[in-house]
Amino acid sequence: MKKFFALLLSLALMATLLVGCGGGDKETAKTDDATKTETKQEEKKEEEAPAASESKTVKVGIAIYKFDDNFMTLYREELERYFKEDLSNDEVTYEVTVVDGKNDQAEQTNQIQTFIADKYDVIIANLVQSSAASTVVNMCKDADIPVIFINREPTAEDLDLWDKVAYVGADARQSGTMQGEIIYDLPDHGDLNGDGKVSYVMVIGDPENVDAQYRTEFSIKALKDKGVEVEELVAQRGDWDQAKGQEIVAAALTQYGDQIEVVFCNNDAMALGARQAIEAAGRVVGENIYLVGVDALEEVVAYVESGHITGTVLNDHVGQAQTAADVAIKAVNGETLEKNYTVDYVKVTK
Ligand code: GAL
Repeated sequence: MKKFFALLLSLALMATLLVGCGGGDKETAKTDDATKTETKQEEKKEEEAPAASESKTVKVGIAIYKFDDNFMTLYREELERYFKEDLSNDEVTYEVTVVDGKNDQAEQTNQIQTFIADKYDVIIANLVQSSAASTVVNMCKDADIPVIFINREPTAEDLDLWDKVAYVGADARQSGTMQGEIIYDLPDHGDLNGDGKVSYVMVIGDPENVDAQYRTEFSIKALKDKGVEVEELVAQRGDWDQAKGQEIVAAALTQYGDQIEVVFCNNDAMALGARQAIEAAGRVVGENIYLVGVDALEEVVAYVESGHITGTVLNDHVGQAQTAADVAIKAVNGETLEKNYTVDYVKVTK
């Protein structure tokens, strides 16, 4: 009987111990679960609010009318450099994609569609045809992606289509006027042969472009406004292109020879071509002919210094590129935009 009670007692003890142990295991399990949940919550918190060191990415799509353009090459290189080197920092990285429209509006419109489909944060557009602006604005507006036009100015109506649209450029009237003034400021006001009028050749960029229209008009207007009589011998389209500039001026020199006193080129690339044609024809800039361009390409500035080109006008690609990038960032940040941001031209003479 004693043995029986002893057995019962030890069984009871074992049972208590077992229950105790079981409870202990549960406790441990509970604690483990709680830790897991806490860790998960922490992970979630990290996902929701990125750590201070994590940088935000802003995708910038840049559509250039064509890569094969001297001035726009300098412009797009500065845009990329400025976004990557000067504007990107620990907090924000600008991921910049630049595409070549190959002078084809249909192709460029597709490229802009792709930026939109890929959810870019902002688009900078140097249109092939300014007349495509309204289509581009409407596409961007539907997707709520701001668009900053550069270099080729859209109409005021196009800019008014949406408040997240702006234009960054220069006033081409100013560059035309400066070209005229460079000629007027010469001792003979451009009348080399003293016949009382300035006989000129005008090499036009792309006639659809306001830069070409205004430079053509205002260079001559500046002379006329000062009372100078002018005579247009040739006015021809050279599409901003050096080879075309050379062809046009070579043909004009063959046809009009010494009658030509001034060659106005809407840009420097064409002035470089004109300089080659002038030299080939045995004419000497500064002695028996004058030549002016616009852009202030490095090569042209060197020719102005050496007297092989009469003058040019600085088209400030650095100022324009940086303004365009700054305005694009304002747009991304939801700031109110002005319609037009204008950078000044500067006269360049010897
Ligand atoms: C003008 C520039 C030209 C050409 C053109 C393209 O402002 O003077 O050289 O780049 O833009 O649209």
